[in-house]
Amino acid sequence: MKPKIIVTRDIPDEVESKLKQYFRVSFNREDKVFSNEILEKAMENADGIVCTVTDNITEKLLTLPNKKVKIIANIGVGVDHIDLQSAKQNNVIITNTPDVLTEATVDIATLLLLSVTRNAFLMETMLRKGEWKGFSLTENLGVGVRGKTLGLVGMGRIGKAFGKRAHEVFGMKVLYYNRSPVTDLKFEASVRFDLDALLEESDVISLHLSSDKGNKNFISKSRMKKIRPSSFLINTSRGDVIDQMALIDLLEKKKLAGAGLDVFLNEPNVPLRLRRLSNVTLYPHIGSATHETRTKMGMLAVENLIAFFNEKKVINQL
Ligand code: DGY
Repeated sequence: MKPKIIVTRDIPDEVESKLKQYFRVSFNREDKVFSNEILEKAMENADGIVCTVTDNITEKLLTLPNKKVKIIANIGVGVDHIDLQSAKQNNVIITNTPDVLTEATVDIATLLLLSVTRNAFLMETMLRKGEWKGFSLTENLGVGVRGKTLGLVGMGRIGKAFGKRAHEVFGMKVLYYNRSPVTDLKFEASVRFDLDALLEESDVISLHLSSDKGNKNFISKSRMKKIRPSSFLINTSRGDVIDQMALIDLLEKKKLAGAGLDVFLNEPNVPLRLRRLSNVTLYPHIGSATHETRTKMGMLAVENLIAFFNEKKVINQL
């Protein structure tokens, strides 16, 4: 009999068809986030689960006495919502979907970079409200990024790809901070071993930290004080890698020129104080949200399941 797979959220049609070829599948047609009770039942009834960032795969789920699940294929690269240690201890394989979403996420980081430095949100809002007084040589000016310094915090796949684009396409000077040495750089960039030095030197700081627990509040309130008031901050990684309240304080007090955020603490709740600010661009976690990329991510998750149930090497096993 084909293995039984439960899919926690709505997925692209192509991915659904592929899953059905190989497995008995139960889909979530309503696309409503599963409650803990439903997730518990899924853990007890399925051989494998396809999940994503909105599903909390806790120790409690992974240690259920009647657990049947042997593999959880996450659609997404970040797995901070899954207790990896407990998965390992309880023999549940976890996979993710790196690489296929890198360029789409860099597109969103690029949109945020240009939007915050050129005041795009404020300019468009003014126009839509009918408040544009006409072309001016001295008003509505933003800041050009060419020749400016981009400081990358975290130099994994997405950090590297954004740095390359910023350098090659926008002529930015790139600095980076990374915990482990970075070897295969394909563009000119300088390392800063001292994070504070990077924060002080950068005109734009972009966060590309992996979502593991050690990175919570990595950009803390005291660290943020190193950033110059004329600088901008971009975050496309996870909302909890920065002290969000301290960030709002800085933005309100104009101690930071602007922020472009695609991720937030406790999504989808974005504080009113942040939503009220005009020097921010806010996107609803859409880094990988293109039809093409979501299909590739889903297909990769299915490939991982197929490999596992055919006792082949699971490509993206964590
Ligand atoms: C990712 O792949 O980590 C995206 O943020 C969606 O989870």
